[in-house]
Amino acid sequence: MSFTLPDLPYAYDALQPYMSKETLEYHHDKHHKAYVDNGNKLLEGTDLAGKSVEEVVVGSFGKNQGLFNNAGQHYNHIHFWKWMKPNGGGAIPGNLEKKIIEDLGSVEKMKEDFAQAGATQFGSGWCWLAVKDGKIIVMKTPNGENPLVHGAKPILGCDVWEHSYYIDYRNRRPDYLKAFIENLVNWEYVTEMYEAATR
Ligand SMILES: [Fe+2]
Repeated sequence: MSFTLPDLPYAYDALQPYMSKETLEYHHDKHHKAYVDNGNKLLEGTDLAGKSVEEVVVGSFGKNQGLFNNAGQHYNHIHFWKWMKPNGGGAIPGNLEKKIIEDLGSVEKMKEDFAQAGATQFGSGWCWLAVKDGKIIVMKTPNGENPLVHGAKPILGCDVWEHSYYIDYRNRRPDYLKAFIENLVNWEYVTEMYEAATR
């Protein structure tokens, strides 16, 4: 099984005005596609060929940097598209909201800490909500890394590579993060990943 580029789960213009059609065209059709194509080339003939994306990510970390970079970014982007939806943000489903308050203090605090992690990730990378040892935590990682390679399971991630926001927000990464958390997050999908992570 090789990597395949999934379709976006909505139209290219569906996330406007928070994320433009132009951003999604470049981000999905050029950047994610390049991770898939390069990942497949680097995967060929390795002992990880035929494994799941998660297994390739974890198996290549610290061993095959080129393959890891592309596999990690492929995994991250598969979920990133689904972590957003038109008319996103808003209410968090009850059980997840309760757990967020329990582990992170309040929904407001979670949003602040998440945005702060994204704003302070130096250079390219991601900020996350992840489940580690049964608790929801906020994390940030550089480049294509994700919580899977740090003993945690990601339930929400925001891409803070410039390719994700520069067309729409220029250098204003904090404004992009605010729009993401307030207007784009698909909390139903976050809940799905939280339930899978704690099952
Ligand atoms: Fe990206």
